[in-house]
Amino acid sequence: MIKHYGFGGKRLTFGSAAGVYPVNRYQSLFLASAACLEGFIIAASMGKRATELRTVELCCGGGPVAVTLKAAGFGTVDAVDIDKAAVDLCLENARANNIELDLVETRDIFAPHTGNMCRYDLVAINPPCSPDWGLWGARSLGERMRVATSGGGNGEEFTVKAILALREWLTVGGSLVFVMTSTQDFRSIASQLNRVFPSSWRLHQGCPVAQPFLRRTSALTKTLDDFTADKRILSWDGGDGWNWRLSWIVVAERCDRSVVDETVQPELWFLNFGYDVPSPNYRKLVKSFQAQ
Ligand SMILES: C[S@@+](CC[C@H](N)C(=O)[O-])C[C@H]1O[C@@H](n2cnc3c(N)ncnc32)[C@H](O)[C@@H]1O
Repeated sequence: MIKHYGFGGKRLTFGSAAGVYPVNRYQSLFLASAACLEGFIIAASMGKRATELRTVELCCGGGPVAVTLKAAGFGTVDAVDIDKAAVDLCLENARANNIELDLVETRDIFAPHTGNMCRYDLVAINPPCSPDWGLWGARSLGERMRVATSGGGNGEEFTVKAILALREWLTVGGSLVFVMTSTQDFRSIASQLNRVFPSSWRLHQGCPVAQPFLRRTSALTKTLDDFTADKRILSWDGGDGWNWRLSWIVVAERCDRSVVDETVQPELWFLNFGYDVPSPNYRKLVKSFQAQ
């Protein structure tokens, strides 16, 4: 059971279920809070009330974003996952918080869609994002966890595909809000954003956050260190027995005008707003990444 404060101080709780991706703080609830803030920004820029917005959490798992958005007062809040067990958990978490979601559906987000699945003002997604070489223990946790975590290739394939497909789900002025991590090929994701949402994407203001995610004793530590040395990913030894990484929330707006003055500058990717990472390894690495 994980607890989280939603907007208006509502205390929300999220349970878990065997084999379903667990609601967690560094991605699920980070995305939930960011989606609320971005939702209010979208409403303001459209001259609408939050109650008039149409929103959806795709790849919803236990429904952290959907439940948080509905608790914050957003109008239509739908949730979708390919896994029936995840959809059941999402419904259970909604019920446990006295929330009624508008539509909770088992479906593949890449399957041909019907008209009513498009035209959302806010589409939030924490996509599967582990690279093929780094399915941290997921294989031993079974097929369901593999589907929940496997991003394909270097962790970017699902996201790259989703960026293109999900633009069609948005209203003009609506935004796609999603999680990206520094252990996937984030540069390819940025390139796809430049193609599909040219000059209309940015990082959410609370980014990045730093997260311990895998013990240094793991067999994957050497791969992480080697790939970081090659600047394919960014992961560092926190000096506390853990490998650390960054998570970002990306916000991409469907619009026919430029909404950011410049493409996201590399130094912004690694700026530690609002927190301090004491590890000297992080400071050293960030300098070399920013210098690129
Ligand atoms: C990383 S988990 C995120 C779960 C939840 N949103 C969270 O943040 O806690 C990814 C979820 O995507 C779902 N998923 C994977 N492929 C999908 C697809 N093609 N269509 C819909 N859902 C999918 C998985 O079942 C899993 O629940």
